[in-house]
Amino acid sequence: NKVAAIVLAAGQGRRMNSSVPKQYLVLNDKPVLYYALKVFEDSLVDEIVLVTGKNQIDYCKENIVEKYHFQKVVSIVEGGKERYDSVRIGLNAIKNADYVYIHDGARPFVTNCMIEKTYSAVQKEGACVVGVPVKDTIKIADQSDYVVETPRREFVWTVQTPQVFEYQLILNAYEKLSWNKAADVTDDAMVLESMTGHKVKLVMGSYENMKITTPEDLVIAEAFFKCRHKKED
Ligand code: CTP
Ligand code: MG
Repeated sequence: NKVAAIVLAAGQGRRMNSSVPKQYLVLNDKPVLYYALKVFEDSLVDEIVLVTGKNQIDYCKENIVEKYHFQKVVSIVEGGKERYDSVRIGLNAIKNADYVYIHDGARPFVTNCMIEKTYSAVQKEGACVVGVPVKDTIKIADQSDYVVETPRREFVWTVQTPQVFEYQLILNAYEKLSWNKAADVTDDAMVLESMTGHKVKLVMGSYENMKITTPEDLVIAEAFFKCRHKKED
C-alpha cells in the first residue's frame, strides 16, 4: 500500500492575532510546523505534501524541509482561501495513493502511535478520525442561546487530526463538494459524511493533541513540551 499525508499550513491564523502565521511561531526552539512533519517523516507514511501560503513556500523549503532533512516531503504547494480549498489542492497534488492522512500543521502533538492506530482502522473502515470524548457537558442551543438539547456525554467527542481515508473515497467526496455546502465544512470527515454517507470511525487520540488556535494555547503547548523534556531526562 502507498500511504500519503497532507500537512496543512496555509492558514492565516487570524484567531492567534500574531503577525507571523501560528504554524511558523517558534515553540521550544523550532517552528510549530516542524513537529508534525517530524512525526510523519519518522512514520509508516511514504510521502508528504506540504500545503502552505504562496509567500512561505521558499521559507518552508529552506528553513524546514532542507534544514531538518525531511526526505518524505515530495512537494510544497500553495494552498487556498479556506481549509477545504487547501485540502483539495493537497489531494490533487498526490499522484496515486491507497490511503491519505490529512493533518493540521498547527497540531504539533500528533504521535506515531496515533498514526499506527489510525492505519489499522482505515484499512478496515475506509475512514477514521482521531478524537477524544468531551470532558464538559455539551448543550445544543438555538439562535437565541436557549438550550435545545443535551446529548449524552459519553457519545460526544471532539475531533482532531489526523483524519485518514482511502484516497479515492475522500478525493471523490471533495470533488462532489459544491460551493454552497462547502461553507459549512469544518473537517474532512464531514465532507465524507455529507457527500457519500460512508461511515467514519472515531479513534482515541489524546487530550494533548491540541490545535494551536488562540494565544493562550501557546502557554499550554509550552507546558506540554516542558513536561515531555522531564520525561526524557
Ligand atoms: N489551513 C490551511 N488553509 C486554509 C486555512 C487553514 O491550510 N485556507 C490550515 C491551517 O494552517 C491549520 C489548519 O488548517 O494548520 C487548521 O486551521 P485553523 O486552526 O483554522 O488555522 P487558521 O485558519 O490559520 O486560523 P484561523 O481560523 O484562526 O484564521
Ligand atoms: Mg481557520
